[in-house]
Amino acid sequence: MAVAQKISCAGLAPLLPRAPLSVVTGRGHQPFSALNQPRPSSLAEFKVDFHSPVGRGACSLVFAGKHVSTNFDVAIKAMSVALPVETGAIPVAEGIENENKIFNHLLSRGSHPNVVELIGCFGGTGLEAASLGLEAFKEEPVHYFVTELLEGGSLEDRIQHAPLEEEAARRVARSICEGLVSLHDQGIAHRDLKPGNVLFGAEGEATPKLIDFSHAGMMRGQERLAGELGTRGFVAPEVLAAQSYDLKCDVFSLGCLVHALLSGRPPRRHMRIGMMQQLPEGTSQEARHFLSALLNMDAKRPSSREVLQEPWLQE
Ligand SMILES: Nc1ncnc2c1ncn2[C@@H]1O[C@H](COP(=O)(O)OP(=O)(O)OP(=O)(O)O)[C@@H](O)[C@H]1O
Ligand SMILES: [Mg+2]
Repeated sequence: MAVAQKISCAGLAPLLPRAPLSVVTGRGHQPFSALNQPRPSSLAEFKVDFHSPVGRGACSLVFAGKHVSTNFDVAIKAMSVALPVETGAIPVAEGIENENKIFNHLLSRGSHPNVVELIGCFGGTGLEAASLGLEAFKEEPVHYFVTELLEGGSLEDRIQHAPLEEEAARRVARSICEGLVSLHDQGIAHRDLKPGNVLFGAEGEATPKLIDFSHAGMMRGQERLAGELGTRGFVAPEVLAAQSYDLKCDVFSLGCLVHALLSGRPPRRHMRIGMMQQLPEGTSQEARHFLSALLNMDAKRPSSREVLQEPWLQE
């Protein structure tokens, strides 16, 4: 079973500051693409602060940095098979392969406002990081994935102490769904949609962005996807059943994510009854109906594009 539980990796903990909890609002933000720069071709074009990671995943460390010639703030996700992996996570080599494939595909297309802007991906020797004390990197090649820096914290941070008001959840859900449609239109399944993989940038809550392509897969033509991967609590039943499946696995995860926004946690699964919604009293019928459609246990749920037409997501 390769479904990641994403529990913490004690060996790296002392390196890690807490992610910011507050959501910055109101500042404008120009994308890197608007600077009309040639696409960066090596890590040497960036100044990276390897001393203090701004985040970590089950199989990565993420650092802040700057594109030197423009001063543009970036995040650099470093992945190496030398990194200790959290129990239950996918093998790093598989995560690197997925991230590489999807990153390179998306780099050649325009970006979407609700998907993190990708700037470049580079191979390295690991010496860049090892020279600054990250011994784990020394022996193995490191892959560096550079994106815009998103400093407003994650959706997971945002619901840590209290769920969102329904109106705020609706707005966030609509934006995430728009980002998802842009991936699905290109045949890309995210496969790890959850509050921790949605970050806020300088525009704050107005612009949630999908991050993290380490679990993503690409469907070409009539091909279907395979592989048990995702995060427990958010993964679709057909993925867990080791069947082949399609992009609608993300629609189920979106349902789990929205349930978590409204109640603080994903829905419970019952062997016989299926998905059990546990929402605050006062949650509207439209929201409950929306969740029932997305959390359909068999994959006859709406496509992400159809989800955008759901009554609950309308203004
Ligand atoms: N663009 C970014 N700007 C700021 N922080 C980021 C950015 N990308 C990632 N991070 C931080 O690094 C963490 C890990 O990143 P990411 O989710 O891509 O890694 P992962 O190893 O694939 O994680 P997972 O545990 O979800 O499999 C994020 O949860 C976030 O805190
Ligand atoms: Mg992640």
